[in-house]
This record gives sequence, C-alpha cells and structure tokens, in this order.
Amino acid sequence: MALKPVRVLISGFGNVGRELVRLITEYREVLARQGVRISVVGIVDSRGALVSRQGIPEETLLQLLEVPRGGVSTFKDGRPGLTTLGALDELEGVLDVLVEVTPSNYRDAEPALSHVKRALDVGVHVVSANKGPFALKYQELASAAERRGLYLGLKATVMAGTPLIDLLRYGYTGRSVELVYGVLNSTTNYILNLMHGGLSFPEALAKAQEDGYAEPDPSLDLEGWDPAAKISILSGVLGRHIPVHQVTRVPLSPAVQELVEAEWPVRYIARLDVERGAASVRPEPVEPGSPLARLQGARNGVHIVSDGGKIIYLEGTGGGPRPTALALLSDVALIARAL
Ligand code: HSE
Repeated sequence: MALKPVRVLISGFGNVGRELVRLITEYREVLARQGVRISVVGIVDSRGALVSRQGIPEETLLQLLEVPRGGVSTFKDGRPGLTTLGALDELEGVLDVLVEVTPSNYRDAEPALSHVKRALDVGVHVVSANKGPFALKYQELASAAERRGLYLGLKATVMAGTPLIDLLRYGYTGRSVELVYGVLNSTTNYILNLMHGGLSFPEALAKAQEDGYAEPDPSLDLEGWDPAAKISILSGVLGRHIPVHQVTRVPLSPAVQELVEAEWPVRYIARLDVERGAASVRPEPVEPGSPLARLQGARNGVHIVSDGGKIIYLEGTGGGPRPTALALLSDVALIARAL
C-alpha cells in the first residue's frame, strides 16, 4: 500500500535547509521502513519560492541543491518575491508541516516568529531549527500549538545531534527536573580548548574561524546569545519558560584569560535552575578530568539533576548542518507517524 506522505514547506534554504532536502532523498528507504514518506511542497529562500501542491519531484529537489543562495525562484516555475507567509496561504489544505530554518535572531525573532504563528493559526505543525521564536515566546507558541493539537518539533534547536529535548520532554514526564547544566555551544568550547593549549583569545578565535567552528561574525556565540537561547528553550520544554533576555549572560571575552591561567579547566557553562526559575551562561571552572572538562570539537555535554539529586550526563554531537538536518528529519518523521 502506498504511504500517505507528510507534506512539508521549508522556510529557508541555506546550509541546513539544503542538507534537509539532501537527507529527505537519501533517507527515503530508511523512512519508508518506518512507515514515513515526506513530500516537499514548497521551498522558500530570501528572494522567492518554488511551490507545488502535488509535491516537488525528487529530480527537481536534487537540482535545487545546485542553485546559488537566493536562487530558488530563478528555477523553472519559481516565484520571485513569494514569501513564507504567501506560500502558507497558497498551500492551504495541502500542508502538514512548516520547517523553519531561517537564521535565528534574538531581537524580535522575525520573520520566523510570524511564520510560526501563522502556521499554528492555520493548523500546520511546526518543526524548527530557528531558536528565536521559542527563546522569546515559548509559552505563547506552545499554548497556541496545544489549543490546536499541533506539534512543535524543537529537537534541532538544542544539541541538535543528540536528542536532549525528547529526553526532557518524554523521558522525564511526571518527574521533577531540578537543574540542567553543561556545554551547549561548540564555538566557545573550541576557543577555550585552544586557549588551554596556549593560544591567546584573539589567536584562538582566528583559528576557530579558520577551522570552520566560529562564524565570520561570531558575536551570537561569543556574546552568549546562542547558548542563552538554548537554555531558555530548555526552560520552556520543562514548563516554566525564562525568555532569553532574562538569562544572565556573561560574554566570552579576552578577560577569560585570567580564568584559563588558573588551575581548573574553563568551560562556557549554560545553567538552568528550574526550582529558582533562573538561568545563566558564563565561563566557569570545572573539575579537571570531569566529563565537561574532556569535551572536544563539536561535542556538547549536559548534566540533568532530578528528583532529589539523581544525576545523568548526556553527551553527543551539537549543531552543524548535518546533525541539525537529521534532528529536523526526525521531528518531521515523528509527526508523520502521529498523522
Ligand atoms: N554556533 C553554534 C555552536 C551552532 O557553536 O554550537 C549550533 O547552534
């Protein structure tokens, strides 16, 4: 029997959006074995879109991977100027999931916030790698989704390569999580490791950029917005949202040199005290030889303390296009199976 496809609109076609399209074709058989078929009915980039109510053929999807940034609408049948909101209107009745993969911003989270709100208004599930809307407005969006019986797939927003959010959402149902703390940002961890190897802050930052860890504009990582947004989202998942602007944020700056020269290794720690309703990101010394002290490369690690001091430690891959796209794919597949 032919599988009924779950129909997705992809909002944003940078590295992550492209990796997701690649995975949807590459994982076709894996998904089919799990009873899942994904049909892409639209892709939107910064200049326009390509939409098809019947689903964009696989051959076209593969060709789209070759178009330059902002070039989706230059493709045959492309629609210059069509936005995500316009595509949501056009796809009314044939869309199941909005996949939001535009870049995060923590000023007003736009335009992603409007995309997510509109999707929920018109009864469409949301899967997002964009942290902005949920770091700013978790409660409002979660309530809107709940009212309509819709799913918010956020696994790609925190420790994307490691299903931390599912663990907190499902594995701890009915239990009391007290504290979550760890390393949720690879860029700052890479820089700190280089500094412990003897480089100065500017040298370590330059090398992190050269090695593809730090962005050309690394401010979201160095100023702590990225891990602050992640810990904020975790607070929402645990039922008491602390908006990102209320997370205490100590940027990683050259001043960290003094800490690095002290005895203990330094980590850029994101910390959520659930009972006190407080969250922070800041450089902190950690015990030599401890799991967080040993973290290298793109690995992230987190301690979860629950139910009167029971502790687990979860470690795995953080972000990056492929792990992030895999997390998105997994959330889309979860929705497909629920449908
Ligand atoms: N810039 C992020 C990091 C990528 O360094 O961890 C994933 O959010």
